[in-house]
Amino acid sequence: MIKNITVIGSGVMGTGIAISFAINGYPVVLNDLNDEFLEKAERRIKQDLALLVEEGAVTSTGKADAIKNIKYTTDLADASKDADFIIEAIPEVIDLKWSLYHKLEDLKKESAIIASNTSTFPISRLVEKASFANKMIITHYFNPGHLVPLVEIVKHEQTEKKVVEDTIQLMRDIGKAPIVLQKEISGFVANRLQTALMREAFYLLKEGIASAEDIDTAVTAGPGFRWAFTGPIEIADFGGLDTWQRVFENVAPDLDQSMEAPEMISKLVAEQKLGAKSGEGIFRYGDESVSDKLKERDRAFIRLGNLKQ
Ligand SMILES: NC(=O)c1ccc[n+]([C@@H]2O[C@H](COP(=O)([O-])OP(=O)(O)OC[C@H]3O[C@@H](n4cnc5c(N)ncnc54)[C@H](O)[C@@H]3O)[C@@H](O)[C@H]2O)c1
Repeated sequence: MIKNITVIGSGVMGTGIAISFAINGYPVVLNDLNDEFLEKAERRIKQDLALLVEEGAVTSTGKADAIKNIKYTTDLADASKDADFIIEAIPEVIDLKWSLYHKLEDLKKESAIIASNTSTFPISRLVEKASFANKMIITHYFNPGHLVPLVEIVKHEQTEKKVVEDTIQLMRDIGKAPIVLQKEISGFVANRLQTALMREAFYLLKEGIASAEDIDTAVTAGPGFRWAFTGPIEIADFGGLDTWQRVFENVAPDLDQSMEAPEMISKLVAEQKLGAKSGEGIFRYGDESVSDKLKERDRAFIRLGNLKQ
C-alpha cells in the first residue's frame, strides 16, 4: 500500500505535486538541494493553500493538516528511506536525473515506486542508467500541479503491472485524472495537442490575421471554453463526422507545417525577452501584475476544478 510520498525538487512543479498529496492526507517529504529553496517552497505552498481555503476548496483545518503533512529536508537519504512513492521534479537535464537515480539505488526501499515528472524524456531514456526499470514510471503533472487534474502516465516495458495499477489508483485517490500512454511518443499526448495548436496560433499572429489578444480570446472563449468538458474526439462526433471531414479537407492543407520554433519566439528569446519571468515577451508585464495575474489564473482554475467535480 502506498502511504509515504517523497517529492524531490521543490520548484514550480514539486510544490504543486506536494500539495496534491498533502491535501489528500498523505505524508509528504519534500527534498531540495538547500534550505533556501525549501524555505521558498514552504512560503509558496502556504500561499497556494491559502487560496484554496479562500475559494472553499479546502477547509482551514484541511489547510493546517496539509501543512503538518509536509516535511522539508535537504537530506536525500532521510527523504527516501521510508518512501513508498518517490516522484522527482528536478530540472529537465538528463545527467541530473541519472545522477539522482544512481543515488536512489542505495537509499530507497526495494518496493518503492520511482516516478519522474519529466515533460520531454521518453521513459526508455530515463531508465538507461537506472537499475530499477521495473519500479519506474512517468507521472507527468501539469502546472499548477495541485490544480490541473491531468496526469499522464508512461510505463516502460519492464515496469511491473502492479506499479502501473498502483500509480493509477494513487492518482485517482488524490483526485487526479490519469491517462495511460500505450506507447512512447515525444511530448506525450497533451503537449503534442498543445504544441499543434500553438504552432498555428503563432502562424496566425505572424501573418497578421488577428492580434495576440484576439487569438487568445479565440481559444479561451471558443474551443477552450468547450475543451474543459468536451474533448476533440467527442467534438468530432457531436459536430458530425461528415462536417469534420470537410473541415479537414478545406483547412488542413492551409495549416502551418513548420518544423521549428516560431521565428517570433526565437527572436524574443535571443533578446532575453522570455515572457512573464523577464517582464516582457509577446506581452509586457510589471512585477505586481504577474503575481496578480497568476493568482487570478489559479483562482479561476480552482473554480473550474470545483465545477468539474
Ligand atoms: N514547469 C512546468 O510547467 C512543467 C510542467 C510539467 C513538467 N515539468 C517537468 O518537471 C520537472 C521540474 O520542473 P520545474 O519547472 O518544477 O523546475 P524548477 O527549476 O522550478 O525546480 C526544480 C527544483 O529541483 C531542484 N533540484 C535540482 N537538482 C536537484 C537534486 N539533485 N535533488 C533535489 N533537488 C534538486 C532545484 O533546486 C529546483 O528547486 C522537469 O522535469 C520539467 O520538465 C515542468
